[in-house]
Amino acid sequence: MAISAPVRAMDDAAIEDAAGIIRGGGLVAFATETVYGLGGDATNGEAVARIFAAKARPSFNPLISHIADLAQLPAIAKMDARAEKLSETFWPGPLTMVLNKSADCPIADLTTAGLDSVAVRIPGRARARQFLAACGVPVAAPSANASGAVSPTLAQHVAASLPGPDGGGPQLILDDGPCDVGLESTVIDLTTDTVALLRPGGISKEDIERIIGPVVIAGSDDHAPKSPGMLSRHYAPRARLRMNAQTAEAGETYVGFGQTGADAAMNLSPAGDLTEAAANLFQMLHALDEGGAEAIAVAPIPDTGLGLAINDRLRRAVRS
Ligand code: TXA
Ligand code: MG
Repeated sequence: MAISAPVRAMDDAAIEDAAGIIRGGGLVAFATETVYGLGGDATNGEAVARIFAAKARPSFNPLISHIADLAQLPAIAKMDARAEKLSETFWPGPLTMVLNKSADCPIADLTTAGLDSVAVRIPGRARARQFLAACGVPVAAPSANASGAVSPTLAQHVAASLPGPDGGGPQLILDDGPCDVGLESTVIDLTTDTVALLRPGGISKEDIERIIGPVVIAGSDDHAPKSPGMLSRHYAPRARLRMNAQTAEAGETYVGFGQTGADAAMNLSPAGDLTEAAANLFQMLHALDEGGAEAIAVAPIPDTGLGLAINDRLRRAVRS
């Protein structure tokens, strides 16, 4: 069993070191009021790919970008009157708002899983905000546990669940004691006229309704126009897509991986590196859509590590 990451009390010195790790593209687990998060620079696709790899998650879902204060928000997302009221009432705290990206939003495509929206939250814990301010970049952070395990509310849970730095896990775990809330933040979608609850959590639907009026539960009929099932929450290219293709057929644009398609116009990772491929995936699919590609053929991606999540996403694109 690999050695787990060092656990340090979340004091000024540890926070400075941790922020340096984040700015360098590394991973740090840190306490918030909800659960411990596994953080990486949300603007760095490869750092975000490492988060998915560390959690051994077989799929990509969009992650929350954590910020220290409201001044950081306009660069990332567009606020409307509802978002302003909610932020005044519930931030800092366990509410995550899904908002439309701002024009020059620096958040990596992998963080938002290719969506035009971005989930943002300002954590309640003062030490968490101090850490985020020191990072100077928005920090993508899902719960700091291996896929399928329960969410960690103690630093020891993180150490027990995730591999150490040598195994692709966090380089450091910032211990700020037990989490107060003990379950994840409430996630609401503010990109539609009707506000939808995407995930129940630390703040109740009723609490939110008292501030902005009716909220529907995502997937219910009222929300169906924007979200047939979960579709609006998953980006898929408009173009037709074929997987495990050794070469392109007529009319197809080829996306290579490693040596397969080394001379193709696009290659997810010429070096055959799955972290790089994950970081490039949504970006390249977007570029192909924007370029008007009708059909895309993608080279075989190994079904190991991050390749599982890449193949999962490609399979969804084939079906959609
Ligand atoms: O309490 C929490 O929220 C913890 C701590 C660490 O802050 N973080 C957390 O992150 O639970 P995560 O990545 O496990 O949850 C993100 C949730 C998922 O349900 C995801 O589908 C949703 O937010 N989400 C993120 N971005 C989205 C987007 N652009 N559109 C729709 N849903 C989004
Ligand atoms: Mg989780």
